[in-house]
Amino acid sequence: MDKKTELENLKTEMEKNSALPLYGKANLVFGEGSEDAEILFIGEAPGRREDELCRPFVGQSGKLLDKMLAKINLPRERVYITNIVKRRPPENRDPFSEEIEAYTPYLQRQIDIIKPVMIATLGRFSMNYFLPDAKISHDHGKATRINSYILVPLYHPAAALRSGKMFKELEKNFLELPQMLKDAKAHK
Ligand code: URA
Repeated sequence: MDKKTELENLKTEMEKNSALPLYGKANLVFGEGSEDAEILFIGEAPGRREDELCRPFVGQSGKLLDKMLAKINLPRERVYITNIVKRRPPENRDPFSEEIEAYTPYLQRQIDIIKPVMIATLGRFSMNYFLPDAKISHDHGKATRINSYILVPLYHPAAALRSGKMFKELEKNFLELPQMLKDAKAHK
């Protein structure tokens, strides 16, 4: 089975799983992009706009993500973008740990299908799933090898929209991604 079909089947399976928290309360925002992406971006959870359109990162944070991708000449269609929790928590509250636990097996299967060279997490929730002890203020922009991919924690675009300092850090880390990707491919 090709990767695209595998992802479609996984999405259908998720849509049917009524045991998932937030089922029936918000739309499923499965993720989108190239199934052959070298970089997989993982955010926190959909917001209002994402819930409306069933697409990840299409609101203000998404605009900034697109801008950052443009800085490294990477069209959005060439990466894959998803979230750790794939339905919008009410009022955009932080995801609960039970929600993260329930949704991450699906994230893991997306990773297994896409087989990215690099996973770039956006914000602390997705970072802490991979690196439970990491601190975003300390560890952003640092690459760690995990199995067949490297993990690079990044600030969440929403944080960069609130703080000029974080904006600069996010931009700096983004500009470093192409070289990190090259190195990761050389040492795979
Ligand atoms: N913030 C996220 O973490 N994910 C989205 O899809 C949108 C905003």
